Amino acid sequence: MPSIKDPSFLGQIGDDAAVYRISDELALVQTVDFITPVVNDPFTFGQVAAANALSDIYAMGAQPVFALNLIGFPVRSLSLEYMEQILAGGSAKAAEAGAVIAGGHSIDDYAPKYGLAVTGFVHPARLVRKSGGSPGDVLILTKPLGSGTITTALDQGICDSDLEAQISQIMAALNRGASEAMVRIGAAACTDVTGFGLLGHLHELARASGVAARVKASQVPFLDEALKLIGRGAVSQGTRNNLAYLSEHVKWAPEISEAQRLLLCDAQTSGGLLIAVPSEKGEELAQALKASNCLAYEEIGCLVDGDPGTLVVEA
Ligand code: CO
Ligand code: CO
Repeated sequence: MPSIKDPSFLGQIGDDAAVYRISDELALVQTVDFITPVVNDPFTFGQVAAANALSDIYAMGAQPVFALNLIGFPVRSLSLEYMEQILAGGSAKAAEAGAVIAGGHSIDDYAPKYGLAVTGFVHPARLVRKSGGSPGDVLILTKPLGSGTITTALDQGICDSDLEAQISQIMAALNRGASEAMVRIGAAACTDVTGFGLLGHLHELARASGVAARVKASQVPFLDEALKLIGRGAVSQGTRNNLAYLSEHVKWAPEISEAQRLLLCDAQTSGGLLIAVPSEKGEELAQALKASNCLAYEEIGCLVDGDPGTLVVEA
């Protein structure tokens, strides 16, 4: 990708969303994201895909305003009712985010795909980037890890329906409350945890901020069932690729098991926000996240001086 020369673009390629300055008070935030089905129920899939697309707007500290549907659908092999359910799930989630779905585009495709192109607004001074972290900032993750493992287990037919319902709820949860809390309290840097896993996204945030990071594995929120399912072989290729890619950037404490390493690299669908906040504001942010019903809010580590992007994982 060529670099962008126009100074109206406030971010860089590789940020969670593109940001275009309109005035001193207003910038436009634009993102696009779509996925293949991760759960069996089409309405839930629509909700998860929309929550995932909206998440990149929230990671920048912005507010979604409207969105356009992107849908690929096998019109000859699946009932149109299935497509209606996907779109209804997406609309419901957009409404919950306070955004309007204003149109979209569909194509005939061999397998379903759904997502949104989302437009949001942010005050340029309140934009939260990956690159704003400093040594000493504490790291907070707002959803437990494990969705990649559990959706893989679902695919393999080794996941029960209770667990499917639990993971659906987690994946469909908006990162809205987390985003509003971090903007109010003054986060230094943020990204959302998706396909590269917790450590992959932390590596990006740390590298963009020019710092290293420490993670305390025992503090990282995760679903117990996910760790068990990893032991039964529910590991996606994406997760394996993440772990292999990160090997040169991560120093692991010897006590950390292979299953734990895979979980920390688990490719999430619609994960939480990973927020870096100055340490004196860490407790205030944790309380605000708790108050806004975030699924997780504990400190999981901190940014430190060191080779940019290097991660140390302690037990
Ligand atoms: Co993102
Ligand atoms: Co995304």
